[in-house]
Amino acid sequence: NRIEGSYSLVFLSEEQPDRLICAKKDNPLVIGLGKGENFIASDIPAIISKTRKTYILNDGEVAVVRADGVEVRNLQGERVDKKVFEVNWNAEAAEKGGYEHFMLKEIHEQPKAIRDTMSQRIAKDGKTIVMEELKWDKDFLDSVNKIAVVACGTAYHAGLVGKSYIEKLVRMPVEIDVASEFRYKDPIIDEKTLTIVVSQSGETSDTLAALKEAGRRGSRTLAITNVVGSSIAREADQVIYTWAGPEIAVASTKAYTTQLVAFFMLALYMAEIMGTQPAERITQLIDALRRLPDDVGRTFEDVDPLKTFARQYGFNEDAFFIGRSLDYNVAMEGSLKLKEISYIHAEAYAAGELKHGTIALVEDDTLIFALASQDFLFEKMLSNIEEVKTRGARVVGIAKKSQNAIQSKADEVIFIPDCADEITPLLTVVPLQLFAYYVAKRRGTNVDKPKNLAKSVTVE
Ligand code: AGP
Repeated sequence: NRIEGSYSLVFLSEEQPDRLICAKKDNPLVIGLGKGENFIASDIPAIISKTRKTYILNDGEVAVVRADGVEVRNLQGERVDKKVFEVNWNAEAAEKGGYEHFMLKEIHEQPKAIRDTMSQRIAKDGKTIVMEELKWDKDFLDSVNKIAVVACGTAYHAGLVGKSYIEKLVRMPVEIDVASEFRYKDPIIDEKTLTIVVSQSGETSDTLAALKEAGRRGSRTLAITNVVGSSIAREADQVIYTWAGPEIAVASTKAYTTQLVAFFMLALYMAEIMGTQPAERITQLIDALRRLPDDVGRTFEDVDPLKTFARQYGFNEDAFFIGRSLDYNVAMEGSLKLKEISYIHAEAYAAGELKHGTIALVEDDTLIFALASQDFLFEKMLSNIEEVKTRGARVVGIAKKSQNAIQSKADEVIFIPDCADEITPLLTVVPLQLFAYYVAKRRGTNVDKPKNLAKSVTVE
């Protein structure tokens, strides 16, 4: 009762060596229930090779764990009747499955993860989105006048794309903040706001605190997370789960693409309820979504050029990622991937903003990834490519197959399958993930556990 702050604690006493006592607040803690043995861990993947039966401890609960039993009490000392939470992933899913690194495995799992995330949420006739977990109606959405999206890192980048989806398809204003800023900015939110937090792990301390802050100010809350029973899932009013399966590599890949799918489906679902898009447009976009797992699979067909670029540019000191609109959002994610696992200084810029300062950094052989997948901005991007080429940059362009005019402008081009502009972030990100991976391998860094980083950031 006297401890302040966030913690997960386990106590062992010399006098009673047959028991462990654990307690938590704001940080995760799970208890694995075995046969004649029990486990305490910070999250489920740590114990699934031992048992699938768990107790998930809540804030203010204290557990006494012995080899032959677990007893949970609240801070008043009363017994708590815990429900056993049965984990449905298998141990193999948490192993590398033949890939050299978890990150590479997880990149390749994206078609399946995307399929799993969307499969239960498309009506049988393929025409509408079903969100059983939300059951919203027009009255509910009429009572929301603003959406606030809050997340960290890659989840924040997914939120940026989500903001575009909701604004474009639903025409509802969306604000977005990184969680560590949101907490302290005295956010303007109230009961008319819907706050959406995004977190793969569901345990990120800043995001959890932001979610609690939103709740305190009366906002309705929705979490998009990958971990069932996580702190964020339990704290939010409602949850959309991404079904990406366990993500082990520190660099997030399949969590990002499934978060985009969750946002896209949410936007379509809201557009249906609000009648902000014609039914045929919604059906077309659902069709595009259904083709997506195969299209993502196609991006793995020829990765040799990416390996070659990694050989050529793997020891560059800097890299830039440029794009406009959704491409700019993906550029941010590509840049984060490269810096976090290869330790190369990488920056993302809105292509139209370069001329306001950053272009001063472009010189002979500066590596620039130019994302040009948005049809309505394609010509503008070609001009931006010319702009940096004139200053000596080496440009790798990424565009849809049909946008082959890019070949006469960029030094190298990676094509993605033709698709609706809204879908491209799920495709253009894949070569960027793979490029970061091959560069990291070439530089011999620890791909799955890069220096200074942790998978779940449970400290502020
Ligand atoms: C992603 O590659 C990073 N390791 C990191 O930015 C991560 O996305 C961030 O810490 C948020 O994690 P969460 O999704 O588990 O909340």
